[in-house]
Amino acid sequence: MAERCPMVTVRPSGVRFRALPGQPIMAAGIAAGFRWPTVCGGKGDCRVCFVEVLEHHERLSMPEPAEAQAIRELGGTLGRRLGPVRLACQAGVHGDVVVHKRGVRPRRDNSEGGDRS
Ligand code: FES
Repeated sequence: MAERCPMVTVRPSGVRFRALPGQPIMAAGIAAGFRWPTVCGGKGDCRVCFVEVLEHHERLSMPEPAEAQAIRELGGTLGRRLGPVRLACQAGVHGDVVVHKRGVRPRRDNSEGGDRS
């Protein structure tokens, strides 16, 4: 039997989409037809894509060193009230998760997300 694709729930909007096992959160959201805040387009450089993981951060891939460094720096910027923070363009989904991210919304066109220039 095929493995069930994990579900990503985004609050506060309530957006939900499925990810292929191991697919980064942001890539899964874009593939499902949503815009995701980004400047670098998913290269791990801008940090604009970051999410606070509200439930089941253990179901995401372990951060690579570059993401781990970005998370440490974001933590210093954002303060201690946040739960675990991840870059949505880097964190692979391996089970149902709930994240907090403002600005995730349905695309109004047929582009693949990001800039259209
Ligand atoms: S999209 Fe730029 S760091 Fe994730």
